[in-house]
Amino acid sequence: MYKILCLNKISPIGTKRFGESYTFSPEMASPDAILVRSASMHDMELDENLLAIARAGAGTNNIPVEDCAKKGVVVFNTPGANANAVKELVLCAMLLSSRKIGPAMDWVKTLKGQGAEVSKLVEKGKGQFAGPELSGKSLGVVGLGAIGILVANAAHSLGMEVYGYDPFLSVDAAWRLSRSVHRSMSLDEIYANSDYITLHAPSTPDTKGMVNAESLSKMRDSVRIINLARGDLVDSAAMLAALQSGKAAAYATDFPTDGMIGQENIIAMPHLGASTPESEDNCAMMAVDQVKEYLENGNIVNSVNLPSLSMAREPGTQRICVIHRNIPGAIADFTTVCGKAGINIENMQSKSRKDYAYTILDVQGGDTVAAAQSLETLDAIIRVRVISA
Ligand code: MLT
Repeated sequence: MYKILCLNKISPIGTKRFGESYTFSPEMASPDAILVRSASMHDMELDENLLAIARAGAGTNNIPVEDCAKKGVVVFNTPGANANAVKELVLCAMLLSSRKIGPAMDWVKTLKGQGAEVSKLVEKGKGQFAGPELSGKSLGVVGLGAIGILVANAAHSLGMEVYGYDPFLSVDAAWRLSRSVHRSMSLDEIYANSDYITLHAPSTPDTKGMVNAESLSKMRDSVRIINLARGDLVDSAAMLAALQSGKAAAYATDFPTDGMIGQENIIAMPHLGASTPESEDNCAMMAVDQVKEYLENGNIVNSVNLPSLSMAREPGTQRICVIHRNIPGAIADFTTVCGKAGINIENMQSKSRKDYAYTILDVQGGDTVAAAQSLETLDAIIRVRVISA
């Protein structure tokens, strides 16, 4: 029986995929895996039995990803599962940053009690809420992952001229991007060309504060900035100053600070991008499937701290899964250990990712338990697990 600790409420559409050989609960000692949405795990003691953590979402800044790799705990996320939900909110935020819908709705509420006069007053006062159309304007998309791509393609369909920037653009992402999206080679190109800028980058030491006084000064006058990615990508004080000076026309974010609340031209909302039933179901299903695949077969799909590696099971073999440091001679040592234990390697795959590597060996004959114990004594080893036939 596998034990799954759920730190947040996870859609039952996902958890029911676990089946009978799993038990899951919000409280549990010594779990095999943890499912999490937004709960912070940075101060959590990780049980030594723990094999995997799956985040039902894209960002993993609530998880100590690097520490997990050092302990041989695989961290998964669910890229793309909530991308459509976030895309829709980004489009909504772009419209809200243009058309003054929020203030207009607030103003209409002030007309309560005016009886038959309401229609006349509404007509008379509407001029104060005029705002520009998106069509014909330019949009800079910073970060072309699952969400950035959908936003770029949708904005193009709305008649916008779209510029995309992503220094880590994957081949797969490039295929999914509309050919009409202009590829910018630097952030400065985005800043120079965009009436609207939307951020879709993770929060890293390189991206924190990327929208600051200096970058704002390179942007077009009356730029509108959308940040539904991570709050610390934007220097709040610089943003407020840019809005006050008129350099920026609007800032839409779902990471409001106290200083932003109530400020004119700030569209502030809770972090709602992924809060749709469809996205919660998609994330839960993907997270559960990835955890099951790892626990039952040792296959890694969509990890943020270890390489992706999947190998079909060889019938009648035992599987040895080895998380190890990416150092010379490691694999030669594994095969030597297997040979000494009288084990025949039927199939083997290995992949590395920066300092870490993962090797799967499907083996037959000999003493697998003794071999796993010997492997554990090797310098490169972080974790060894044997999955029975
Ligand atoms: C994500 O990281 O998946 C999004 O920011 C949505 C969320 O955290 O709820």
